[in-house]
Amino acid sequence: MKPVTFNNTVLRDGHQSLAATRMSTAQMLPAAPILDEIGFSGLETWGGATIDACLRYLGENPFDRLRALKKAAPQTPQIMLLRGQNIVQYASFPDDVVEAFVRANAAAGQDVFRIFDALNDIRNLTTAIKTVIDCGKHARGEICYTTSPVHTIDAFVHMGVEFEKMGCHSIGIKDMSGIITPKVAHDLVKELKSKIGIPIVLHTHDTAGLGACSYLAAIDAGVDIIETSIAPFANGTSQPDTARMLALLDGHPRKPDYDPAKLQKLRLHFEDVYRQLSKFTSPANERVDSDILVFQVPGGMLSNFRNQLAEQGMADKFDEVVREIPVVREALGWIPLVTPTSQIVGTQAMMNIKFGRWKVICQPAQDIALGKYGKTPGPVNAEILAMAEKQTGKKAIDCRPADLLDPGLENYRKQCADKGLPTDDEITVLYAMFPQQVEALVKGIPPAEAKSAPAKQTPDPAPAPAASSAPARPHTSSSPASGSRTHMVLSINGERHEVTVEKLTK
Ligand code: CO
Repeated sequence: MKPVTFNNTVLRDGHQSLAATRMSTAQMLPAAPILDEIGFSGLETWGGATIDACLRYLGENPFDRLRALKKAAPQTPQIMLLRGQNIVQYASFPDDVVEAFVRANAAAGQDVFRIFDALNDIRNLTTAIKTVIDCGKHARGEICYTTSPVHTIDAFVHMGVEFEKMGCHSIGIKDMSGIITPKVAHDLVKELKSKIGIPIVLHTHDTAGLGACSYLAAIDAGVDIIETSIAPFANGTSQPDTARMLALLDGHPRKPDYDPAKLQKLRLHFEDVYRQLSKFTSPANERVDSDILVFQVPGGMLSNFRNQLAEQGMADKFDEVVREIPVVREALGWIPLVTPTSQIVGTQAMMNIKFGRWKVICQPAQDIALGKYGKTPGPVNAEILAMAEKQTGKKAIDCRPADLLDPGLENYRKQCADKGLPTDDEITVLYAMFPQQVEALVKGIPPAEAKSAPAKQTPDPAPAPAASSAPARPHTSSSPASGSRTHMVLSINGERHEVTVEKLTK
């Protein structure tokens, strides 16, 4: 059997999981040529929270980062993580915005697109996958791995078969919480390999200490590619370290040949960077903790969640809130926990503890119940659905959510023009997702975090923007007519989330 190959994630998931996505392009560039020389099958460098972090915290144009990294590492395919119809945001965008984003990104040099939907609703992936294929780029359809009564190996394999039929070039198993066990990794890979001809990639996190073992089991089952990072941006809530994974494969017939001296050089570089980012790192993210196996919360979320609860004066309620997460998941149709559903479930769990179970339902949780994010893996609890319909005055939908959205690209372009911003596709698609930040970037206004040297000791020190300047989102919900309103700003995985919750008067 041919050797397994590694994708390297240090420039995306590595620092997103362990340093609140704060690695700057300047901190990446010295490592890029070395990463390029090693012969990894891919470098994950873009997407996920990196675009938000570039704009919100680092004052960087993410497309410029991509171009700089392509120049510094021209031989290795570069990978981005794309949230299907949500692009790299939380709401659904119209098809024309998704298409323009993919085209602009492909033109800027992106090679591989990992495309996932938080609900595993393939309808939310069709536009992105089709556009990537049309651009002549590599489409990797992602299966979000989670456990629940409705998430069976058969269901995952069925999804993989669909991806192959759609023309995807490979399939990723995205285990964002690091909960896949070696046995399941083995069985799932084996089943997929028996039904599917395109390469299979396993992506996991070492949060519970299972990552490296599950990779080994998947390699024995024939997985084509696994994803590792470089210590210290590795292990814990990140991917297993590359050198460690190689050691684990010592003597294995499928061990790839990566130069240990080069890996050591990378390690020394990233140790420096890790120190520079120390105010965003935390021992809680670095350690292996099997708590995750109970709560299934993605990498980095638990520790940031602690900070959020502290801000809400609920620090002592951490255990209760985390234990509420599976309750919320079940009621919302056993949705996987991945951006954005992880944040929504986390917020709702917090509401349930703060106000009493289901006394207050946050708007995004209502939207999930109403089908606005897509089809949930299992049925939504009938009582919660009825409450959501009553509170919003709207009926649940069962079509593809983006079918309800009018084209939006030209409207965003016009908004850019009105603000005196460039109207090319790159700026327009960024503006569609991050209007205030893009305006600040173009006008040369540095983000608050970049301006003020001493930052708070939390992973997310940026102040909240004024509510009145909040972007108009293409995905909106009506508010209930009565009740008291609480505005909350949450930061999970280094990403900010603003939510408004309504307390209903019964
Ligand atoms: Co990940």
